[in-house]
Amino acid sequence: MMATDPRLVGYLMRALAHEMAAVQQYLAQASLATMWQMHDHGQRFRRDAEEELNHAQQLIEHLLVLGIPANGVSLPPIRLGRTLEEMLLIDRGLEIEAIRLYEEAAHYSVRVRNPELQVLFTGLLQDEWGHLNDLDRLLTEIHKGSVSS
Ligand SMILES: [Fe+2]
Ligand SMILES: [Fe+2]
Repeated sequence: MMATDPRLVGYLMRALAHEMAAVQQYLAQASLATMWQMHDHGQRFRRDAEEELNHAQQLIEHLLVLGIPANGVSLPPIRLGRTLEEMLLIDRGLEIEAIRLYEEAAHYSVRVRNPELQVLFTGLLQDEWGHLNDLDRLLTEIHKGSVSS
């Protein structure tokens, strides 16, 4: 096995902490939206949580291949919001953080010629852009008044 670049491992661990925090945040928001009788949004948050869970699993697989136990990451604090709009704005911030992290990690993977991690980080980056675009679409609909907040 190739000696593992510590900075790449750092990106994998930071990414895992981000994804686990995102799972927790989206699950909590799914529960809140459901409590507020916003069942469609509850289901949407639940699907988001599952996508982030899938991201976490991809990261864990890569860590395990490198022989690194993917345990004990400490999670950054999560924020939920008191209205639907506030939740979406907080999520927007979370997705932007993910985009910054994956952009940096993908660039670094290119620089150190690690095509495998480059593919991983680039794929995750595309997904996070998709999440950000979905959030922006929803926020626009809320401002137009076609979605209740
Ligand atoms: Fe993610
Ligand atoms: Fe995301």
